Amino acid sequence: MCGIVGYIGKADAPSVLINGLRRLEYRGYDSAGVAVLDDGHIVVAKAPGKVSSLSDRARADWPAERFARVTMGIAHTRWATHGPPTEVNAHPHLDQSGDIALVHNGIIENYRSLRARLESKGHHFYSETDTEVLAHLIGDSDKGNLFQAVCDALHQVEGTFGIAVLSAREPEKIITARRGSPIVIGVGEGETIIASDASAILAHTQRVIYLDDNDIAIVTADSVDIRDLHNIPVTREIAELGLDAAAAEKGGYAHFMLKEIHEQPDSLANAIRGRLDFNLGAAVLSGMGTSPRELAELDRVVLIGCGTSLHAGLVGEYAFEDLADVHSEVQQAAEFRYRNPILGSRDLVVAISQSGETADTLAAVREAQQKGAFVMSLCNVVGSTIARQTGRGVYLHAGPEISVASTKAFTCQVAVLLMMALKLGRGRRFSRQDGIQFAREIERIPELVAEVIQQNDHISKIAEAYAHNEHAFFIGRGPMFPVALEGALKLKEISYIHAEGYHAAELKHGPIALLVEGTPVIAIACDIPGKDKTLGNIEECRARGARILGLITEGDDEAAAHMSDFISIPRCHPLVATIPASVALQLLAYHISRIRGCEIDQPRNLAKSVTVE
Ligand code: F6R
Repeated sequence: MCGIVGYIGKADAPSVLINGLRRLEYRGYDSAGVAVLDDGHIVVAKAPGKVSSLSDRARADWPAERFARVTMGIAHTRWATHGPPTEVNAHPHLDQSGDIALVHNGIIENYRSLRARLESKGHHFYSETDTEVLAHLIGDSDKGNLFQAVCDALHQVEGTFGIAVLSAREPEKIITARRGSPIVIGVGEGETIIASDASAILAHTQRVIYLDDNDIAIVTADSVDIRDLHNIPVTREIAELGLDAAAAEKGGYAHFMLKEIHEQPDSLANAIRGRLDFNLGAAVLSGMGTSPRELAELDRVVLIGCGTSLHAGLVGEYAFEDLADVHSEVQQAAEFRYRNPILGSRDLVVAISQSGETADTLAAVREAQQKGAFVMSLCNVVGSTIARQTGRGVYLHAGPEISVASTKAFTCQVAVLLMMALKLGRGRRFSRQDGIQFAREIERIPELVAEVIQQNDHISKIAEAYAHNEHAFFIGRGPMFPVALEGALKLKEISYIHAEGYHAAELKHGPIALLVEGTPVIAIACDIPGKDKTLGNIEECRARGARILGLITEGDDEAAAHMSDFISIPRCHPLVATIPASVALQLLAYHISRIRGCEIDQPRNLAKSVTVE
């Protein structure tokens, strides 16, 4: 979603800002802009479309000397909410005087009433955005102290914000603040970088400060002074990012998504490493911060998330019930937060989020905490808001996921959920021997995934036969039902084929009406309980002319005989098999999208981290 970069320090700030925006491109956006302070004046360049268009515009409009001499500025990638992605709606926005520039992530919910009030005082607005209203509000509050003006303005707004503000009248500082939308400050040598996401900071420094909600910071080239909105100083530690800048590069792959699919044997090994105890037949997940007794006494596990993370939760639901004998349910985070969930101190709520910033998941976490449940998170991004809000949980260690479509984070989420289920299971019904056996299965995951990735060329060939349809159905049973949902989501988001995931038994209750000669049905028919029933459902589809692509267990000739095409999944535990099966579907979606010439890493309308409701 929207991205913020702010920079103060050395010369050539415009290039630093634009390069920072490039690092945030993966988040999804549809226009971009930059404002710098040059010779006592704010100068703005904006463009609809890509950061490359903004870069061309700035280089065409601005003299080369400006690029060379300017040492500070703010920049933004906008994912349109209020008004279409036009140049005028792009950030930065200026106040009435033109001396103050603002970039903003989040939503100002009361912007209409604020705008009406400012208009009645003579303010004129150019854009349809809520952000321009905040810029004017800051300008209106400015009585010679920018910090105080920002505080005063923020006291008047309802909604969420991550902001960076620049004033020509106070040229040595940038003010940044957050509520509900992340801000990270990189502390470099004689330079300070503000960003909504650490990937824009990596090239400069590993030393960062994460702002908390309602923090406001005065940032100069060599200082960061953090206060609350009442001007009381607060202390925030400097953390080490521990991220390799190369991890956020394509490394020779055509797309980040392909790279991230191929990284999975490693990312899964990282997620699993040191977390299995083969002596006790248990999982070691100390970040959960729960005693064996607390786990044994749990009444219920509630898994919450959105999109792909929700699908990981659905696999987890089977694992908790099968392995740990504990009632488990999955809830879409936005639904959970508004439905007045019934929770108690013996309920474990696990928030699943790659980014750790998803607005609905964060709100659901707060709701569950309010209700006194045990709340923990399963995040990939270290130091993210959800990880910090829960204070306990398990990091995925999948490494930076840049492609908008989640791949390696999903498989690591499932792997960690399997380990959590094993941990709970050992405190409940699993014997030591059962535990050791399942731990051995988990240990195999990286190698099972590598076997599927070796079939890349085969899957690429199969994709040619399925790339030209406009509809597709994915079916599965048991833990493969969520895999079908995830396979369909992956295909639709990156290839724009209308794809639906169904329980294999469900097609004949309605959707089967849509099958015509050649409609693709991707059937997950691995050799797990229920396979025979799935084969029966496949025959129902074949009888109506569907073309069946099966995911079958390696060497299962009986299942292969039902398919037009098939991809083999190595034989393993049914819950573990969800991971290699998902990888096969990721590759299928990738190749279909490639054949259709789609923008794989940044699909239209999508954002990597969804920080609005
Ligand atoms: C799909 C995808 C999204 C995310 C969803 C939640 O490929 O990536 O559906 O899974 O937006 O995001 P996180 O996991 O960051 O909370």
